[in-house]
Parts: sequence; structure tokens; C-alpha cells
Amino acid sequence: MTDYTIIGPFTQVLPMTNLAVKGPLKDDELEIIPNGAILVNNDRIVDMGDFDSLRKSSALLNPKIEELNQAAVALPGFVDAHTHLCFAGSRAKDFAMRNAGKSYLDIAKSGGGIWDTVTKTRGESQEQLTAGILARAEQHIRNGVTTIEVKSGYGLSVQEELKMLRAIKSADLSCAADLLPTCLAAHIFPKDYNGDIQQYLEEIAVHLFPILKEEKLASRIDAFIEEEAYSSDVIRPYLDKARSMGFDICLHADQFSPGGTQVAVEHAAISADHLEASGDQEIELLAKSDVIPIALPGASIGLGCGFTPARKLLDAGTSLAIASDWNPGSAPMGDLLTQASILSTFEKLSSAEVFAALTCRAAAALGLTDRGQLKEACLADFIAFPTSDYREILYHQGQLKPTQVWKKGMLI
Ligand code: NIG
Ligand code: FE
Repeated sequence: MTDYTIIGPFTQVLPMTNLAVKGPLKDDELEIIPNGAILVNNDRIVDMGDFDSLRKSSALLNPKIEELNQAAVALPGFVDAHTHLCFAGSRAKDFAMRNAGKSYLDIAKSGGGIWDTVTKTRGESQEQLTAGILARAEQHIRNGVTTIEVKSGYGLSVQEELKMLRAIKSADLSCAADLLPTCLAAHIFPKDYNGDIQQYLEEIAVHLFPILKEEKLASRIDAFIEEEAYSSDVIRPYLDKARSMGFDICLHADQFSPGGTQVAVEHAAISADHLEASGDQEIELLAKSDVIPIALPGASIGLGCGFTPARKLLDAGTSLAIASDWNPGSAPMGDLLTQASILSTFEKLSSAEVFAALTCRAAAALGLTDRGQLKEACLADFIAFPTSDYREILYHQGQLKPTQVWKKGMLI
């Protein structure tokens, strides 16, 4: 009996290793292993390299051979570092209203938008929410996403946020992908809250944060920084409290107006997400910090607004992850590879920059060091596209789908 398996040969394996964490990447910096294979033991990668050499060098381990007979390009499983895929209901009405000329923030002010989803999400049971998460995660897995961050933020009370985070935790138990929860209780100010915005944040910090720790429901705190949501001044004490309790911070920053970036840098956030409204000043701030910018092209496409200045960010020396922001309001599409491909044409990103933004740099944006690269001791999360040239993947703008997805060494 052996626990070792060699999977291959792949026409090309792109391990996404030895790439700089920050700054621009050229395609000729990508390591490409022709006729490559991956040696897996249980859920981990043991070794990789040329198929025939790997067979010889691992002969004593007596590995099983999972042989592929078609052209295939292997990459690490994609990591989606920003989603809101725990939600109920549709916002097709908002979409129509926006296309008729109303803005996202106007719709929110008049009682629609995020609050509409809060009402519908509160109307579902924890089990119903779990089923919704699993259905969306299933779609993501088929598209090669093997790690998915999932935010709360449509509960907006201690009990309703708990319901969402428990739904995410229970979905994670039966989901082939790993689901990584984030508490976004500071999404918008709940319209039915009996008190002011500082009281709401205080209540969340005092009554929800300790339960997140006790029940291991989330180790990350997010907030939507915008005058119409949480202003920089209002949010600072809340983030201080979260940090003092050991939570990682990530932020919705500079989506419609600049300001969030400053808060992200001050609070040593692990990522600053959106940044569509970031200007040169914000880009410079980020470049001097270790905050990882996350572009969310799905929100730009959903709202019909400009893209995150990804090219400028990279050229200034920041890192860059790309995530789907999958949510019912600003980013209903949920197809990460399509969105990343579209961003690459508008922002002139190389394949190396895009794949890094979906794998190693996305894992870093979640603080995960055990994935996003194909190397010894990393999780055996990888995907195969039916082509012999990695450049075909972005060229087809999301229409070339992975034919195989391995999660923790298992073919899904
Ligand atoms: O990342 N901007 C704030 N939050 C989400 C949208 C949530 C929604 O519209 O339901 C975003 O775009
Ligand atoms: Fe978001």
C-alpha cells in the first residue's frame, strides 16, 4: 500500500515559486516545467519536476501513477481572497436602476442596496445560508478556485452576524474548497439599530469579537470605509480594538473616494481591497507599506466604473492580488478568471502578474503560506487547463475552463 501518487505528465507546470512578492512581473520570470509532474503524499506536495525523472527518483516510494493523456497546463489552485458569497436574494432591481442612471450610493441612501440584502439574508435560516454558500462555492471550484475567503456583513447585529459566520463555518466542513471567514459587521450602519454608529461598533466589539474567538468563527475583521458607510474617524477605534484582540485587518478602501488606504496603512492591514478611486498619493502610501492591494474587477464590471489602477500599483512597487468580490450587489458575476482576464487587457498586466495575483500573491493577502505555489510541503491544490501553452488561458478570457481540479491531492 502506498500513499504516494505521481500526477502528470502536464505539458507545462507553472509552480509560481520564486517570484517577488511585490512589483511588476514579466512572463519570462515564470518557471515553466515542460512534461512536468507532481508527487503527492496525502494532502501535500512532496516534489515536482520532469515526469520521467520524478518516476525514477521516487521509485523507492512505489508511487501510484495518475497518468494524463492530454495536453494540459498545471497551475496552483486559485485563491479568491475577497467574496461575499454568503447572502440571500437578488439585486437585479438595483442593476436595472444603475443602468437607468442611479448611482450605487444613491440606491443605498434610498434604502436599497446592501440593506436590501441584509433584510433577505436575515430572513433565511443558517442552514439555508449554508446551502447557498455551498452552491456558489461549487461553481467556484469548477472554475479552479480551491480557497475562498467569505465575508459576513449582511447580518449587521450580533446574532445575525453570528448566524452568517456559523453558516460559513458549517459550509466549510462539507465544502471541497477551504472557506476562510471574515467578519464584516462594519459593512453599513444597520438602519434598525437603536443607537448611534459608535454604539453599534462598540456593541460589536464587546459582544461579538469575543465569540468569534471562542467559537473560532473568524480571525479577520473587515470594514467598508466610505462616508456613506464608515468614515475613517468613526472606524479607527473599532480597528484598534480588533488589532489589540489579535484580529487581522483587511479593508474595503478607496472604492468610491480615497481615504481607506490611509486607514489600512495606519492599522497595518493585511490587504486594502477595491482602490478604484486611489490616486497617486494613495498608491505611494501603499507602495511604502506591506499592505497588499486587492483589485476587484468584478465590482468595476458590475457597477460600470473604472478599474483598480493595477498597473500603476505594481509599477510603484506594491504587490497585487485579484479577487472576485462575488456579491449580489456590485459583483454578481462571480467568475474570477473572466474578471482577471478582462482586467489584464485594460490594465496591461502580464500573465505572470495575473497568475501571481490569483495564486501566490492572493494566498499572501490571506496570510496563508501553505498554498498558492506548487512546492514541497504546500497543499496539493492544483488545476489543469486543456492547452499546451499557458498564454491560452487569459487569451480565452475565462472561456477556457480547467478540466481537472485537485484539492489536497484529491481529484474533485
Ligand atoms: O465590495 N462596497 C461594499 N461592499 C461590497 C458590495 C456589497 C453589496 O453591494 O451587496 C463590495 O462591493
Ligand atoms: Fe467587497
